[in-house]
Amino acid sequence: MTLQINAQQNGSLEINPLCEALGAEVIGLDLSKPLTGEVGQAVHDAFLEHHLLCFRSAPLSPAAFADVARRFGEPQMQLLRNQRVDTVPEVSLLDSTYVRAVDKPDDMRQVRLTGWHTDESFVEAPAKATLLQSLEIPDSGGQTSFCNTRAAYENLSEAEKLRLGGLFAAHRYDTPRAAVQPKVRTKEEIDETPEVIHPLVRTHEDTGQKALFFNANRTDRVVDVSHEESEDILNLVDGRMTEARYRYDHEWRVGDLLIWDNRCLVHSVNMDFPVGQRRLHQRILLQGHRPV
Ligand code: SIN
Repeated sequence: MTLQINAQQNGSLEINPLCEALGAEVIGLDLSKPLTGEVGQAVHDAFLEHHLLCFRSAPLSPAAFADVARRFGEPQMQLLRNQRVDTVPEVSLLDSTYVRAVDKPDDMRQVRLTGWHTDESFVEAPAKATLLQSLEIPDSGGQTSFCNTRAAYENLSEAEKLRLGGLFAAHRYDTPRAAVQPKVRTKEEIDETPEVIHPLVRTHEDTGQKALFFNANRTDRVVDVSHEESEDILNLVDGRMTEARYRYDHEWRVGDLLIWDNRCLVHSVNMDFPVGQRRLHQRILLQGHRPV
């Protein structure tokens, strides 16, 4: 249902759901102003309710983008240094362009971004949220898709909830379960990313809601069970949380700024877009807590 607010200091704000599964578009918010009062509360509530908010904007400078991010939380540096913007290192530039025909595989599963993931789950306290703004987009393809792992958990049978609750999984920067190997790390980055253990079902700090917490690119195994059982469990989780009914596909317009909740969404990218057409985003991760 659309929510409309008329607030003196911020004008009129509209929050429109993007689809059944998740997401809302926020219209009429001046991103350069602090998120205070009734409007600020409505935006924060909408984030917790819809898990993803879309603001239509023009591309922002890295500094202005970081200002927006600070209205939602504390930015954290992403692991890979070579994508960080020198002047504002909490901002990273993600360039997914195929420069040459040879860079684009025939089988899209060979591109890591097509794997369903939640950002940087390989650290002890993964980012609670991600802000991503499109700077350049291809003419076709390149959508970012999201699945609602909170809804997927809630729709499990009681027997499945019982089976998964209390299980823990190892997350690694690289795991043979991923279809493709990740970007190379420096020695410093390797030292910062030992294996970590997270619950397979996590409880959201702000809402108390439970969600599946699995990353196809990083979850290596369920701990304390056999390899066969681990594969069985991870395949079940993967299949359930990526069902079409939990999914939203975002068609980017230049300047779109998304913020999403990594605690209850996974995302993947449709990497099938024309060679030579630039696909460039800027990204900020917001500090989170250790999942429980
Ligand atoms: C990411 O998953 O880190 C980037 C998403 C995108 O390029 O759309």
